[in-house]
Amino acid sequence: EIEQKVEDLLSRMTLEEKVGQMNQYNGTWDVTGPPPTTGDNANKYEALASGKVGSMLNVLGAEATREAQEIAVEETRLGIPLIFGYDVIHGYKTIFPIPLGEAASWDLEAIKKNNTIAAKEAASAGIHWAFSPMMDVSRDARWGRVMEGAGEDPYLASKVAVARVQGLQGEDLSDLNTVAATAKHFAGYGFVVAGLDYNTTEINRNTLLNMVLPPFKAAVDAGVATVMNSFNDVNGIPVTGNAFLQRDILKGDWGFKGPILSDWNTIGEMTINGYAADLKDAAYKAATGGTDMDMETRGYEQHLVELVEEGKVDEALIDDAVRRILRVKFQLGLFEDPYRYSDSLRENQNTYTEENRAVAREAARKSIVLLKNKNDVLPLSKDLGSIAVIGDLADDKDTPIGSWRAQATANSAVSLLEGVKAAVNDGTEVHFAQGYTLAIGDRAFVNELTFADDDGSDIPEAVRLAQNSDAVIVAVGEEAFQSGEGRSQTDISLKGKQLELLQELKKVNDNVVVVLMNGRPIAEPWMYENMPSILETWHLGTEAGNGIADVIFGDYNPAGKLPVSIPRSVGQVPIYYNHVSTGRPNATPGQPEMVFWSHYTDEEKTPQYYFGHGLSYTTFEYDNLKLSKDSMKMGEAATVSVEVTNTGDRAGEEVVQLYIQDVAASTIRPVRELKGFEKLMFEAGETKTITFELNEEVLGFYGADETFKAEPGEFKIMVGGNATDVLTESFSLNEK
Ligand code: IFM
Repeated sequence: EIEQKVEDLLSRMTLEEKVGQMNQYNGTWDVTGPPPTTGDNANKYEALASGKVGSMLNVLGAEATREAQEIAVEETRLGIPLIFGYDVIHGYKTIFPIPLGEAASWDLEAIKKNNTIAAKEAASAGIHWAFSPMMDVSRDARWGRVMEGAGEDPYLASKVAVARVQGLQGEDLSDLNTVAATAKHFAGYGFVVAGLDYNTTEINRNTLLNMVLPPFKAAVDAGVATVMNSFNDVNGIPVTGNAFLQRDILKGDWGFKGPILSDWNTIGEMTINGYAADLKDAAYKAATGGTDMDMETRGYEQHLVELVEEGKVDEALIDDAVRRILRVKFQLGLFEDPYRYSDSLRENQNTYTEENRAVAREAARKSIVLLKNKNDVLPLSKDLGSIAVIGDLADDKDTPIGSWRAQATANSAVSLLEGVKAAVNDGTEVHFAQGYTLAIGDRAFVNELTFADDDGSDIPEAVRLAQNSDAVIVAVGEEAFQSGEGRSQTDISLKGKQLELLQELKKVNDNVVVVLMNGRPIAEPWMYENMPSILETWHLGTEAGNGIADVIFGDYNPAGKLPVSIPRSVGQVPIYYNHVSTGRPNATPGQPEMVFWSHYTDEEKTPQYYFGHGLSYTTFEYDNLKLSKDSMKMGEAATVSVEVTNTGDRAGEEVVQLYIQDVAASTIRPVRELKGFEKLMFEAGETKTITFELNEEVLGFYGADETFKAEPGEFKIMVGGNATDVLTESFSLNEK
């Protein structure tokens, strides 16, 4: 029925009106005020009122979206409603953990729930379209946007992407509590060379097919409504003009029916890239390359009609793009009532509720990874005499909200200090010392990280406090806007005086708990090797301090697992667990001094912490790895099972992980790759048998002929609680 309505409307549209639908403007004026009469905003207003705009981004709130919608609906010939998009990345007003942190929960139901709430808050504020989830696999902690994805593994990233899409879109796009999701950034953006944002990529076909594209394919299969492309090129062709990626793969092979939105000005940037001679050429290349909507370049607005009239762009391509855009608008129910999402009452009722915050707290604690807990320093008792809470970040109500914070109120997160104070029992004193200073200037658009020697740090004061306290909780890491878009760094260690502070604290107190707050993995070997207990808490959102305190004091037993490897030094980057084997992976037996093997001469080559790592306050033992059969023919299925026992004395959750290695294949394959996981609760002493299926889907990959299939031969089947501590069995797949 929708298809018929789309066709009917399309048949009544002029070329100008069609091209108008392909144009997206940034909302740069107060649409609730009088119409702008001068400058660019006046032009934008005029274009909007004459049907030359199909979508806007950054128009926020029930009132503003209603006003802007009124212009499109009331003043244009066909009254086609606008679709309002916004970066709802990890919450709208109630903020959930940054996406990388959320992925560390490996809890797909929880991830879905977080996104359901984000969608409800955004949809109640008039937003129809979330520019999320980002599903760029990335191996490079120098790139600031690692914080926005699900880490380095395509399998985990695919599962998380689907959970996010399902959470945002729900069952039915026309439901008032859901929004259209965006699979972004298609594709390869996570592979920018040297972690330098907006840089070129070096992605071979093997990596493209097996590492970069799988999350996008999974999202498309799950029904994601839209796709956003990316700033980079792949194989020398900017993605915005890349017909191979956008037309052949996405719209062709995968049958994607929604619109592809350009990223901000990526059409215009093709001229700067040196791929288009001028804006007209860029508009031509984008339109023929498969980009359906232009975010803010105005390339389509200025040139597309002319390009069609000159016969350079076939009008059928325009029709195809407009169909895709109208389809989503119909699916959202905008033609029935263009104002249905713009409802101030719902906006007030549904936003930042107690209920939403409770889910954010749950999400925060689920995202925490216990990296280390020597001598069981954690959990701390709530009845200690005195606790020192130390560090600029510990008293920071803003940093936990992180980058891409949508409509969060500045300084609205529960700080670590507040969380600790609220958690301890009466009689436990909590004192604070700042220790170091991490102010990095204008927070939202900080351009440079500079740390002067006289930055106001007072380490002696913090040391005195630590000396006189029963336990120390010290927060170190990154300020909110140190990671995120445009925040590439060559140095991913702790900035300023943070390390020095840790070194001094360690000298005076054995019970130091390090709380890492960061968007990207931090390389700081001394810290990891010498500090007794370390919690990776990312930027956890609105309820950060409470979530961390839940873990510190044992109200919640941590169960997060790393979605990225933590490097020892920036020199190891890019580092990832699912690498292939070199021909010389090990030292020559009996000749450890011999240098001709794949290693660094000044550093271990293993990461500080592997993908999948994460401890609990209890312990788990893996035993009895069994295959239902040790070989099978193509077309058959087998199972692998393992017994996992909680060998400690408290209940806890464990993420049981399945990895495989295709031992010899038509292309070299990773030494291990994740192919399944299950997160389960175990009572103390409880044993559970976990079973995974082995089939061609699990064993398959895109091989030398670039098609997806399983190849006959030997496989290693590995199961464990992280990527390296695994039980292993051999398995073979035979021809029919
Ligand atoms: O959605 C974002 C994208 O991820 C980066 N460029 C700007 C877009 C809109 O804000």
